[in-house]
Amino acid sequence: MGALKTLIPCLALLLFVSMISFSEAREFEFGGKRPSWELPSSPDDFSKWAQRNRFQIGDSIVLTYDAKSDSVLEVTEKSYKTCNTSNPVKSYTDGNTKITLDKSGPFFFISGAEGHCQKGQKLEILVLSAKHHSLGHSPAPSPAETHHHHLAPAPAPASGGSGLRVGLMSGATVVAILALV
Ligand SMILES: *[C@@H]1O[C@H](CO)[C@@H](O)[C@H](O)[C@H]1NC(C)=O
Repeated sequence: MGALKTLIPCLALLLFVSMISFSEAREFEFGGKRPSWELPSSPDDFSKWAQRNRFQIGDSIVLTYDAKSDSVLEVTEKSYKTCNTSNPVKSYTDGNTKITLDKSGPFFFISGAEGHCQKGQKLEILVLSAKHHSLGHSPAPSPAETHHHHLAPAPAPASGGSGLRVGLMSGATVVAILALV
């Protein structure tokens, strides 16, 4: 009985610590199937997938496709809207493309295969700005954020020791739980 009373706060702490780890960079397998980057079965499939997920700076997405017949083009918003493949920002052709979302704001991707973008093979990813990060695990704020700084709560001071502290905390939790068992 006494042990159970101690165990519950410990478990709560463990849960809290694992939530912190979830705010670290994640890798998203686009579409959840392989190959994923191909003509969608319905035109809004890709935007539905994008809306189900929350992307943060440092996360990455992985797109798989047949490198012989398709490619991924990162384009401007204008080219995205008009499906203009002629002058991409970046182009990826290796069939298994990992793209790191290294800034906040929208990213636009379209298929390089003839006519595919027009049939809905296009993807807009909105990367949340650093202030959406929990617990201040964020890189330096971009100019866009400093702009609305007065609206947002002050970010936690960046501290080099926070990773270590989290490590020590989870270590202590495990020890506490083991001691009770
Ligand atoms: C596509 O983009 C290129 C370069 O940005 C531009 O020169 C061309 O006119 C555009 N084509 C169409 C059809 O809009």
